[in-house]
Amino acid sequence: MPSDGKRNSRCTAMQESDHLFEKVLDLSENGLFLIDSERKIVLWNEWMVKASSIERDEAIGFTFSEVFPALAGKRVASVINAALDSRTASLLSRSLNKAIFPLFFAGGNGEKHRIEQSVTVKPIRSNGDDYCLVQITDVTSMVQREEVLKVLAKEAEEALHAAEDVSRFKSEFTSTVSHELRTPLTSIRGSLGLVSSGVMGALQPEVNKLIDIAYSNTERLLFLINDILDIDKIESGNMSFVMEAVDLMPLLKQAIEANQPYGDQYQVHYCLKEEVAQGIKVHADRDRLMQVFNNLLSNAAKFSSENSDVEINVIQKGGMVRVEVKDSGIGIPLKFQSRIFEKFSQADGSDTRKVGGTGLGLSISKAIMEMMKGAIGFATEEGKGTTFYIDLCLYDAEKVT
Ligand SMILES: Nc1ncnc2c1ncn2[C@@H]1O[C@H](COP(=O)(O)OP(=O)(O)O)[C@@H](O)[C@H]1O
Ligand SMILES: [Mg+2]
Repeated sequence: MPSDGKRNSRCTAMQESDHLFEKVLDLSENGLFLIDSERKIVLWNEWMVKASSIERDEAIGFTFSEVFPALAGKRVASVINAALDSRTASLLSRSLNKAIFPLFFAGGNGEKHRIEQSVTVKPIRSNGDDYCLVQITDVTSMVQREEVLKVLAKEAEEALHAAEDVSRFKSEFTSTVSHELRTPLTSIRGSLGLVSSGVMGALQPEVNKLIDIAYSNTERLLFLINDILDIDKIESGNMSFVMEAVDLMPLLKQAIEANQPYGDQYQVHYCLKEEVAQGIKVHADRDRLMQVFNNLLSNAAKFSSENSDVEINVIQKGGMVRVEVKDSGIGIPLKFQSRIFEKFSQADGSDTRKVGGTGLGLSISKAIMEMMKGAIGFATEEGKGTTFYIDLCLYDAEKVT
């Protein structure tokens, strides 16, 4: 039998350890309360006192449903029963945005705000008795952050929709304006051409010069508008192709003849070197193929040195035919080569550049070649010249349906 003195000192030690234990629980940043098998609350920490405004002596010794009458019959009550009866632990708030217990914190202006909670319910066995520990974590700031993120995500989505609308509007606007401009410009060009040709009567040389400038500027604008409309068609997937058997050599010769007057401006002569057998047919859209030839031939002349030849070779290889346009001009600078097929890209984009153009021709040519299941490429050496080539599919009547 322990003496009275010993018993007293053990009691004091236990009381001290209980006291220490309660202090530790009171310092916790979580809400903690313990329920015994009779559903009575036996521990209620300081966090709970503050958040629920229920003092310790109003909670301890009372049943869970007496303390939280509004929660009787709710899921939290059955989870607590399950923890005590069948010792099952539960995480109550699967989604964070839940305020299970009526708990509040005071805001800066003295207003009370509901605490968003994450609640775990755990069975505990001690000295043969069953308890249930309820632990509450304040997740208000996480929920608020989540809400802010949701708002931001919604705003970002709205901004994206607005940008898509603007882009659609821009494309429709470009197309409408370009169409509206093309008709009057074509008529202006026609009239200027007539006046300049002298059929309307002879003009003073100075006036004639001005008319010529106006004519060539109108023509430049028309080229730009046609290119923009083509890009618009490519990007909206509305460029239509009539794929057929195209007699290659006559079309190429026609392109060379049509471009020779332009070549003459740069004193460049086109010469068709290698020819494949007459009658060779490629699978292509005639007008679009002509457009690609026009761009490659005009580029070769623009970027050639004066009094030089541009060589055109046609080589057949397997089921493909390659058309090469070879100039001995300025070449393409290395740092520009990777961007050459991009829209509006020109090696010399300055206002003072000597030759005209939109920087759209190669980008359109590439799209056309890809849509005709062909290819476009180049080999170049700065200061020596450039060879552009296109690969076309041979027309095979059996394969093409
Ligand atoms: N044969 C070539 N030699 C040198 N540079 C070329 C040649 N062809 C094209 N380029 C470069 O590529 C750019 C883009 O060509 P392109 O898309 O046809 O537009 P544009 O002819 O309207 O300038 C040209 O401005 C030029 O800088
Ligand atoms: Mg061009």
